[in-house]
Amino acid sequence: MLVLGIETTCDETSAAVVRKRMDGSGEILSNEVMSQIAEHAAYGGVVPEIAARAHVDYLDHLIRRALQRANVTLEQVEAVAASAGPGLIGGLLVGLTAGKALAWAAKKPFVAVNHLEAHALTARMTDAQAFPYIVLLVSGGHTQLLEVRGVGDYRRLGSTIDDAIGEAFDKVGKLLGLPYPGGPNVEKTAVDGDPERFALPRPMFGRKEPDFSLSGLKTAVRNEASKIAPLTRTDIADLCASFQAAVVDVIIDRTRAALRVSREAGSKPTALVVAGGVAANGAIRRALGRFCAEAGLKLVTPPPELCTDNGAMVAWVGIERLELGMTDDLTAAARPRWPLDAQVSTRHHGKA
Ligand code: KG4
Ligand code: ZN
Repeated sequence: MLVLGIETTCDETSAAVVRKRMDGSGEILSNEVMSQIAEHAAYGGVVPEIAARAHVDYLDHLIRRALQRANVTLEQVEAVAASAGPGLIGGLLVGLTAGKALAWAAKKPFVAVNHLEAHALTARMTDAQAFPYIVLLVSGGHTQLLEVRGVGDYRRLGSTIDDAIGEAFDKVGKLLGLPYPGGPNVEKTAVDGDPERFALPRPMFGRKEPDFSLSGLKTAVRNEASKIAPLTRTDIADLCASFQAAVVDVIIDRTRAALRVSREAGSKPTALVVAGGVAANGAIRRALGRFCAEAGLKLVTPPPELCTDNGAMVAWVGIERLELGMTDDLTAAARPRWPLDAQVSTRHHGKA
């Protein structure tokens, strides 16, 4: 089973070739990723039009290189998979159209992939993780807790009602004058800071429903900063550390709530899988490690390059769906909004 995967939902252009191993995990033969961070940095965030144009510029080249590095031809792959959503419409159209065109030209099955499903199933590619398990997806665009019960069978336990966690990190970094993207720089700056100097809120803490809210926390950071402006280096470090400590508390509390909801419904998840760019954060990883040890869950953190957006995870969904006969026809549309728990393929219907 050998599949070509294409990813263009946000600001990473990527193409990859993945093969399924005998033990059920995936072997990544190539995973070419072109990050557009530099192109967007001047604007302090992703500019959709710039992203779409960059995907057009890079994609053909990356697909060719992915096939070359994997040492296979298009004729040798068994299917082509491309992200069809959720994401920015311009980029989705670029990747989806390229994927359909290649599938049509090579007379191969096509799989229109939900990008969230790709993050959710990555742990099966890296660790052959068995169902059911819980996924904490924390990126610049998404913050969700999901129960993964099978391919195409997902239950959204909770999600953010406003900003994504990565977005909150980026906004806090920006308002404190740190370089873009804020996330990694906030973490670096927090190392020397006092996490207890500012009493920041822990939104949603203690609620039964495993949802998140981040915008009030970000506003609280802004208010504290303006109270003591102009900021010294120590102030900035203390604000970063206090913010990160609040996020860690919120993540652990919300994950605990999700596990409770899942277990109360009779499910027996055996692992917590962390995905998305924010999963690179060491403080968050350490706290989740302690939580999982306590809760009797295995913690699965795919390597950072597979936590952020990449074509390999899309190819992997192609493999999993192709095996189940869940392919799509060439009329599959780009879906800027596509919640995972409404997962339906155009040919076969998953349990919604
Ligand atoms: O998954 P990703 O590469 O892109 C999407 O959003 O789809 O995630 C990027 C996000 C950004 O918001 C970035 O600031 C955040 O992940 N991030 C971090 C860290 N590294 C990346 N946030 C906190 N701590 C980090 N070390
Ligand atoms: Zn993503």
